[in-house]
Amino acid sequence: MTTESSARTFMERCDILGSFSEEPDRLTRRFATPAMRQANETVAGWMRAAGMSVRQDPIGNLIGRYEADSTDAMNRGLTINRGPTTMLLGSHLDSVRDAGKYDGPLGVLTALACVERLHERQERLPFAIEVFGFADEEGMRYHSAYLGSKVVAGTFDPNALQLTDSDGIAMAEAIRAFGGDPAAIPGARRRNDDLLGYCEVHIEQGPVLESLNLPVGVVSTITGQNRISVSFVGEAGHAGTVPMSMRHDALCAAAEFVLAVETLARNQPGLVATVGQITAQPGASNVIPGVVTLSLDVRHQDDAMREQACRRLEEQARQICMARQVSLKWQHLQESRTVPCATHLTQLLAQAVEMLKYPVQALPSGAGHDGVALSDLTSVAMLFVRCRGGVSHNPAESVTMEDVAVAIEVLEQFLMLLAKEQGES
Ligand code: GLV
Ligand code: MN
Ligand code: MN
Repeated sequence: MTTESSARTFMERCDILGSFSEEPDRLTRRFATPAMRQANETVAGWMRAAGMSVRQDPIGNLIGRYEADSTDAMNRGLTINRGPTTMLLGSHLDSVRDAGKYDGPLGVLTALACVERLHERQERLPFAIEVFGFADEEGMRYHSAYLGSKVVAGTFDPNALQLTDSDGIAMAEAIRAFGGDPAAIPGARRRNDDLLGYCEVHIEQGPVLESLNLPVGVVSTITGQNRISVSFVGEAGHAGTVPMSMRHDALCAAAEFVLAVETLARNQPGLVATVGQITAQPGASNVIPGVVTLSLDVRHQDDAMREQACRRLEEQARQICMARQVSLKWQHLQESRTVPCATHLTQLLAQAVEMLKYPVQALPSGAGHDGVALSDLTSVAMLFVRCRGGVSHNPAESVTMEDVAVAIEVLEQFLMLLAKEQGES
């Protein structure tokens, strides 16, 4: 199989996964939904055909394992002493609302392509490969990201099981309906004594590689982020009778805050802050909004700057509320620090890029990835693939087949370099 044909299969598979959606006219595939089940079942079929054993863990992560060369391990006394080592690959299979097709599946399906190519050549490496399709990276359903990879890393907070989605369905219930088992989650933590690390291929989601005319780049760090739920609680009232001076309009307070968020981020280099979701209650054209809840996402590569920005914004929200006699609820939903990619694995990735005669471009990731959660378990490396126009979290998200072929070749070469190293150890 040429890398071109692997890349063609990859594109076809992304189209298939792109059709598994909760909504008829756009791609929305949240955690533990029937659309997610379709994705898991379909990818599981592809994994089995590539010679992998497949299982789904208690939160719904899909895991395909391609065994190591046991004779190689036996020759080196490894099965007696500690068993073969394992390299983790993959990404997530959930999506945002009205998503593109490549954010997540790119990492799962390029990893699958590499295993498929090994299987076709009847080749095994001195280490096993596990390909993960993580169940939740976007945090769309419960507003807390990395649910899947946190289970694997052993950092999943069991209190999250009580969170409810927009239909009032508790996470524990959603997991059970998906065929998972909330009680078994603590036991699903991956041991790390056999791990070589985790490598994820992901669409860049930004314009840098395109501007440099490069197909791939090597990630240096993954930026830390906070997700906060902010509620302004005012007083609902009649839109025709309550004088303007006597109102406690929660939406007006929220509007002031949204602009304060933008102003702070515009004036602080490296800071990005977003209000992406807002609801006004009771929500009628002739009722003054009584309660407004919005989502706040704050990111900076420097953790101290990010934390300071969150404190500043909370202070500003309180000032706005005081002036308008509205009350505030400030609830931290998630926080992750900036994660540096592991030096050695990143060097091997860079070496693989060089072997394919491309210049090595290091770049930080402003987006969050499963590697953030997995960095609590093992060493993490990431490869970015050029993204048309830098557009992502948008149905227009696009990669070329040619760039995917390069990514598959780089990942394959990376595995070979790792195999060589393991063979020598
Ligand atoms: C994931 O896509 C994130 O960075 O929010
Ligand atoms: Mn995403
Ligand atoms: Mn992603």
